[in-house]
Amino acid sequence: MHSSPRTASDRCSINSDFQPPVAQAGATKDLTRSRFEVWCCYASAISRAADRRVVGPFHGPTQVIPSVNRWHTHLRYQMNKTLDPLTRREAIRRTALLAAVAAFGSRLAVASGAESPGAFALPPLGYAFDALEPYIDAQTMQIHHDKHHAAYVANLNKALTEAPSLSGKPLESILRDLDAVPEPIRTAVRNNGGGHANHSFFWPQLKRNQGHGPSGELARAIDSRFGDFAGFQRQFTEAATKQFGSGWAWLTISADKQLAIESTPNQDTPLSKGRTPLFGIDVWEHAYYLKYQNRRPEYIAAFYNVVDWGVVADRFQKAAG
Ligand SMILES: [Fe+2]
Repeated sequence: MHSSPRTASDRCSINSDFQPPVAQAGATKDLTRSRFEVWCCYASAISRAADRRVVGPFHGPTQVIPSVNRWHTHLRYQMNKTLDPLTRREAIRRTALLAAVAAFGSRLAVASGAESPGAFALPPLGYAFDALEPYIDAQTMQIHHDKHHAAYVANLNKALTEAPSLSGKPLESILRDLDAVPEPIRTAVRNNGGGHANHSFFWPQLKRNQGHGPSGELARAIDSRFGDFAGFQRQFTEAATKQFGSGWAWLTISADKQLAIESTPNQDTPLSKGRTPLFGIDVWEHAYYLKYQNRRPEYIAAFYNVVDWGVVADRFQKAAG
């Protein structure tokens, strides 16, 4: 049976809610998959490079930047609109132009904080929504980042309008000392500040890893504490599986450099217990239900394929060094 040609938006799902007017323009008539994917890679790489220069693990008042997804959308629109007549020389010229635009946009937003109505801002995901397929699906990533995480940021900013004493204070400091938060907004800050911190911590540690586990000093520390990596996985999986209801499982390190596996309910963070997270899995249903429904153990098993152990190792070095 003959299948109809796919559109450009079918071929690259960086942002699945974007519907460029390619059909009217006829721009995809002779579009080849390879050329389009090269453009997708250019766009993703440009956006990530621009944003990595300014993004920290937690986004405070001096680290406000725009969502990289706005840039993905803009870049992809340009790709779809103009790809058909594209020559190699023109592709290089346009890539350089887009890189400059993306970099300028990031610097501008850092300076102005124009993207956020409050002190904190939604950080960019940093990669395409479908980058973790097939282990975590693109729609889940989009809703998780653009809706759930964004809601935590908005609600945190709203709560903090009632606490001028916390203005300018880093989020990590707030969460490490929740007793200092005024009682009327303490629960809101605990839940939404925790949600913002946990998700800001979550996105950068994710990358398809082709089955690779930790290495170097982190691997030796895990082996020393849990017997071997398989032993760590068994204990971590158990903690994530048994977390009742919504919450997180963590690999943490204490002030005296001891690794531990623990879980927290809701959006509570190990920071509030004086421990430093190195790696965490979100076991709220919003993190997996579209693909795995009630099969949380399948999601947890798949999750080991998308851990960027290099990021975890950097966190370990910083905390243990
Ligand atoms: Fe989540």
